Amino acid sequence: MFYPSYRGRRIRGREVFRRMVCETSFSVNDLIYPMFAAFGSGIRKEISSMPGIYQQSVENIVAEAREVYQLGIPAVILFGIPEFKDSVGSSACLETGVVQEAIRALKREVPGLAVITDVCMCEYTDHGHCGVIKDGDVDNDATLELLCKEALSHAEAGADMVAPSDMMDGRVRAIRETLDNNGFTYLPIMSYAVKYASGYYGPFREAAESTPQFGDRRSYQMDPANRLEAIREAAMDVNEGADILMVKPGLPYLDIVREVRNEFNLPLAVYNVSGEYSMVKAAARNGWIDEDRVVMETMTAFKRAGADLILTYHAKDVAALLLKGW
Ligand code: PBG
Ligand code: ZN
Repeated sequence: MFYPSYRGRRIRGREVFRRMVCETSFSVNDLIYPMFAAFGSGIRKEISSMPGIYQQSVENIVAEAREVYQLGIPAVILFGIPEFKDSVGSSACLETGVVQEAIRALKREVPGLAVITDVCMCEYTDHGHCGVIKDGDVDNDATLELLCKEALSHAEAGADMVAPSDMMDGRVRAIRETLDNNGFTYLPIMSYAVKYASGYYGPFREAAESTPQFGDRRSYQMDPANRLEAIREAAMDVNEGADILMVKPGLPYLDIVREVRNEFNLPLAVYNVSGEYSMVKAAARNGWIDEDRVVMETMTAFKRAGADLILTYHAKDVAALLLKGW
């Protein structure tokens, strides 16, 4: 393609042509909105590093979920801030746990909204790690048992899908077996298949009160430097029965989103994580970027990289912009 026989600007020069040759689009159907369910009542506390995102008790979760549903967003993903924490995360599996109560309330009050649950121990352990500790590190196989119990308790409360985010080996198979053995054969698993040990989770840990009290998560989450390992991790989860794969974080890992999309044919989700959200909000508040434009450009980037679904704290804003005809 050579100038002057080819001139890229011919087709870019008019709005109607730009519309005709646009390669990537997205819709409200692609969005999943994360929410933080807090134990208690009358709670609606904004997360200081995540403007517009709240820790909320169940009645306020339901109120916001109505809004989410009316915007046409198909699903939320729930995280829990429990009544108490202990070394084995007991509050993760209680029938009356905060997430379990939130699921029941949501399915009763906003039945058309799909409720996905994050399955992990870090919100429920006093040490803040994603499983049980043995000899200073998270014990893989002991943690699997707890994750299975947690996933089952979410299913029994009425969750529509479970999403394990712990990065233990074998957890998709273990959870699949537990669900199948208990009559939840058709409950899908969205696996955080490729999850990096990332600095971009900082604001989330304030939101979920889940900062590790010692060490870090590098013995179970992935090294940001690794690409081939991402394919191995995704392949494992495919073999173990995952229904949807996820890559996390989003923007710094678009190459990985593309790799996983090219390699596997399962639906693919990307998590536009807390730190990515906070950076956009902070820059917008300073008047340094046009927030709407940057947010929509970011969604386009995820779709272009190959994602089908986008977990994002911007979901309500994106849905509203789409309704306005963006
Ligand atoms: C729990 C979990 C985390 C996130 C989702 N599930 C935090 C972590 O692994 O430390 C991060 C989400 C975000 O940053 O928005 N394991
Ligand atoms: Zn965790």
